[in-house]
This record gives sequence, C-alpha cells and structure tokens, in this order.
Amino acid sequence: MPEVTIDGARLHYLDEGSGEVPVVLLHAFPLRGAMWAPQVTALAPSTRVVVPDLLGFGGSDAPDDLGAYAVEVWADQVAALLDHLGIKRVTLAGLSMGGYAALSFLRRHGQRLAALVLADTRASGDSPEAAQRRRDQIDQVRRTGTAELTETMLGGLLGHHTHQYRPEVVATTRSLMDSSPAGIVGALDAMIRRPDATADLAGIDVPTVIVVGDEDVLSPPDVARSMQEAVSGAELVVIPSAGHLTNLEAPEYFNQALVEVVARCRPGGGHH
Ligand code: MLT
Repeated sequence: MPEVTIDGARLHYLDEGSGEVPVVLLHAFPLRGAMWAPQVTALAPSTRVVVPDLLGFGGSDAPDDLGAYAVEVWADQVAALLDHLGIKRVTLAGLSMGGYAALSFLRRHGQRLAALVLADTRASGDSPEAAQRRRDQIDQVRRTGTAELTETMLGGLLGHHTHQYRPEVVATTRSLMDSSPAGIVGALDAMIRRPDATADLAGIDVPTVIVVGDEDVLSPPDVARSMQEAVSGAELVVIPSAGHLTNLEAPEYFNQALVEVVARCRPGGGHH
C-alpha cells in the first residue's frame, strides 16, 4: 500500500482503478480501510477508488497524543491526500465513524463533493450516555488492551443473521479490528468531541444516498430515515438481514447502491 506524510503523520492508503470522479471510502471504528475490499473489487474495474486508513488505524500512524485526533483532522487529511493524488472532486462514502469524518469533510471541503454516501451513521453528536460509554472503553483499553473491546463491539457491529449464519463474516470482521491501543483511544476521544452535524444536512446539494442495515442496532433505521428527511432529494437504502457493517454483511446490495451513485456522477449521468 502506498503512503503519504501529511503534517508529520504517515497515512497508508489504497488507490486503484481509474476514472473521472473517484470514489473515496472511509472506514468504521475500530476497523481499517481493508474493510472495503468487497467494494474495491466491485468498483476498481470501472472507477478510481481511494481508501485511506484513517489516522490511528491500520497501517497509518497512531500517535499517543489525544490532541492529534479529531473528525476535522481525518477530514483535512483526506483532503490533503486528494491534493497529493491530484484529485479535485469525489464521491465520498463513509460508514459509521467514516460517516462522521465524511460529514466533517462536507463542512470543511464540501465544494469537492460530487456525491455523498452515508452508511450506518448519524449526524448528531454523542449523547451523555454514549460519551460515558466511550470514556469507560478508553479506561478499559488503557488498563487491559483492546481484546475485550473487540469482542464486545463485534456483538453490535454485525446483525443477528450474520452472527447466526455467516461465521466467515464474523471472522473477517474480527481480523479487521487489530488497530493499536493508541489509535483506538484517540478515535474514541475524537468521537466524544465531534460536533453535531445535523444542521449541515439541509445544505447538502449533491446526490446523496443513506444506507442502513435493517438489523443495525448502533445507528438504527429510524436514525437513517431522519437523515434522509433532512437531506433534500436523498435516497434511502435499507439493506435486509444486515447489521451495522452493511458493506461486509451484504456487499452485493451495498455495491449496487455505490455503483448507482457513481453512474449518476458520470457526464450525462444525471448530475452536473
Ligand atoms: C463505528 O462503527 O464506526 C462505530 O460504531 C461508531 C461509533 O462508535 O459511534
């Protein structure tokens, strides 16, 4: 995987395929860019796909300093990566934490968006209970490492169909959750501090698709529906028998939604 240094931080990324409006895929917590393998396989024959490991994850740096992490930092690093690659506008897709970063990108670099896919995510910030849960997780990781967090989170990341019938998807997901304690703690702290982006939804003026698994318990379908209502013209795709990690649990549905939005961004594809 290639890497680039942005403001002193080394970022790993994947850059495959070619095409006019690349697709950028932002991963969930606590996974890494490689979770998008099924989408890269589907898109790269016809589209350029760029997939970073966000700061703290995968092969990217994971500083010890909590101040190094913020949704704004992830968004600005993606913009700097696009500058490095000579890319102006993109279709940006973010799942869960990747969606928080995508919403920050919207606010800070919105003119670079050709289309937006928000999957299994939410625009609102953490509730006090969610923030407390994350502080407890930070304490737990500092005390005992990441193993317990991985196992607890696996329960909620995947839907009950996947847990019951698709052990290979459970195993793949577990293998994608191997980031460093420093990165996991930094990202938890960044998520506590992330701003409420609800007010930004009304300003979105590019084709937008909201995706959610009908078994998603972390960002459930009613959250997705209210985001759809807030974004003018947004489409909602509810994926059956999938939990929070829709791209891994139901890649064929997810890829179809992506391919359709990419087609709309091609010249003559309905959006200019
Ligand atoms: C994720 O999948 O990225 C996380 O569930 C996001 C979160 O903890 O809010």
